[in-house]
Amino acid sequence: MDLSNKTNAAQRAEELRAELRRHEHLYYVMDAPTISDAEYDALMNELKQIEAEHPELLTPDSPTQRVGGKPAEGFKKVRHSRPMLSLDNAYSVEELRDWDRRVHELAGNLPVEYTAELKLDGLSVALQYEAAEDGGSRLAYGLTRGDGQTGEDVTSNIRTIRSVPLSVSADTLKKAGVPQAFEVRGEVVMPAAAFQKLNEEREKQGLAPAVNPRNAAAGTLRTLEPSIVAQRRLDVYAYFLLVEGDYLAEGQAATLDALTALGFRVNPHRERVKTVEDMMKFIDATEQRRAELGYEIDGVVLKVDSQAAKLRLGYTGRAPRWAIAYKFTAKSAITQVRDILISVGRTGKLTPTAELMPVFIGGTTVSRATLHNADFIERMGLLIGDWVKVERGGDVIPKVAEVVVDAEHPRGTLKFVYPTLCPECGNAVVREEGEVDYRCVNADCPAQLRETLLHFGSRGVMSIEGLGEAVVAQLLDKGLVHHVADLYSLTEEQLVGLERFAEKSARALLKEIEHSKNAGLARVLMGLGIRFVGERTAQLLAEEFGSIDALMAASAEELERVEEVGPRISQSILEFFARPANRALVESLKAAGVEMTAEKKQRSTQLAGMTLVLTGTLPTLSRDEAKARIEAAGGKVSGAVSKKTSYVVAGEEAGSKLDKARELNVPVLDEAGLMRLLEK
Ligand code: IVH
Repeated sequence: MDLSNKTNAAQRAEELRAELRRHEHLYYVMDAPTISDAEYDALMNELKQIEAEHPELLTPDSPTQRVGGKPAEGFKKVRHSRPMLSLDNAYSVEELRDWDRRVHELAGNLPVEYTAELKLDGLSVALQYEAAEDGGSRLAYGLTRGDGQTGEDVTSNIRTIRSVPLSVSADTLKKAGVPQAFEVRGEVVMPAAAFQKLNEEREKQGLAPAVNPRNAAAGTLRTLEPSIVAQRRLDVYAYFLLVEGDYLAEGQAATLDALTALGFRVNPHRERVKTVEDMMKFIDATEQRRAELGYEIDGVVLKVDSQAAKLRLGYTGRAPRWAIAYKFTAKSAITQVRDILISVGRTGKLTPTAELMPVFIGGTTVSRATLHNADFIERMGLLIGDWVKVERGGDVIPKVAEVVVDAEHPRGTLKFVYPTLCPECGNAVVREEGEVDYRCVNADCPAQLRETLLHFGSRGVMSIEGLGEAVVAQLLDKGLVHHVADLYSLTEEQLVGLERFAEKSARALLKEIEHSKNAGLARVLMGLGIRFVGERTAQLLAEEFGSIDALMAASAEELERVEEVGPRISQSILEFFARPANRALVESLKAAGVEMTAEKKQRSTQLAGMTLVLTGTLPTLSRDEAKARIEAAGGKVSGAVSKKTSYVVAGEEAGSKLDKARELNVPVLDEAGLMRLLEK
């Protein structure tokens, strides 16, 4: 063929483009190449040659044009055809069941089936295709999610991703049943191999490694040099097809088939499921094959299949009700302990924390893990420099699970010496008999005051918004606060003197502090930081005593009358109020106008002054329950029957106590009789 002849050249160029597109699809989408790389390169070079000799034959969707012009200055913002939303998450079977139940409720009589897909750990993109003159479609825009309403135009970078068709022929559109203008949404990922290669190169260049494939993919997509993006080998998995801003009428399974027919890469791991049991089977199987996938996933996405049901279910503000992401959790990683740090809490408790070489676990970078106390370190035999397995489940604080020792993980060398002095104030620390924790008992320890102030202001306690770490540090630094009551005498002038404080923020903080005066006795009790007195105990104490004065005057016995208060808690309360500094603090709070009363709970009094004896097995109440009810009604429970006994409550197999009651003429009740007495 004489290629200097223009018609022949045009014809050959078109043939080559079609061939190259077919092989690109086989290689990058189907993972099933039928020719060698060298043969592919030869075809590509031939096409480049023709296009160089006949520039008028060059088309923007030619396979030679993947790496083209770069965006001049940054990326343009482009509005999405319809918002790119997020997904709600589920972390357990129960949460999936709840969701499934809600879906069925809302779908009413419509049949519900689901499509289960992998949740790829990358970033979502929208690919907008527009009508081309030849009756096919051409990629017009590739957009990042951005804020969900508006994305960034990263078209020049998306074009370099070989699994994204630059154009779709009229013929293919027809077969897939899709009009010329459509939009594909999917996930850009960096495959594991590409991620590894990237980090090897970064290491050679003396650069810090990328933390994970998702960040690497995001960074790559926002690179201003398309030729670099082309080398990074990103991939796009398509999961939605929008036509005129709407989903395909047939549903999600049909959508995935249409995307495949259009030539997009669709993840092969997907299934139609009906029940939560089926979902869990798919989820378990997915977790099994997770390591072999060659790209990162962080869960499974379940989508209602039918378009009619989807329409009925609709959206909440941020996510569709017809889809949910089941997230994998409780993952672990091995990393090295760099150091062990000790922090001092508000009760003076010393807590050791392992400082770790940062590792990526279950979605976040972990660089610290709690070591609980000295015993824990001792029991594990942990040395600084040891390698450890760190676990993280859901969103709880990471834990050190065990020390790992093998050929690749040699032992550390430095034994951690538990401090005998408080790292914050230098006073001696003590460990009380029977306790696992060491604590600093210096009442003036700056760490304790700092932590106490932070606790006092925290949400759920006195809820003083704006009293964060930076502010507290400055208040202490400037000597403006020596105990929590000092908060109430702060002035605007004093606050404005602090760093990053303007009049407006000073006034806002003062308003919050003022407002906290009405938080009520229970909150104040929590805020005082009495050991063992948490939210519930504080509430019960407040209801029982009604005022701080009554509480401070209470004996151990009176304190222990409160449900859930035993000797340990009563002792702690007594010790707290025995200290002059704490009594003075209460007085200062009172003087500042902090409300320290509560509505007293009306105590039941039906059994006031009565003593009851329980014997035998009652039909429904356990011994403890019966006792609790009697006491709640103001009665006493005794173990021995005497003339003073008001009633004997007898169940099955009652023994000598029942005989004694009859002997002394003490009235006998069964369980029903007791209940009637309580109801009076
Ligand atoms: S559907 C309405 N399907 O997960 C939004 N999302 O947590 C529906 N993702 O922003 C998205 N794999 O970036 C969908 N098979 C999949 C997905 C997937 C990963 C991402 C996507 C989304 C995020 C939500």
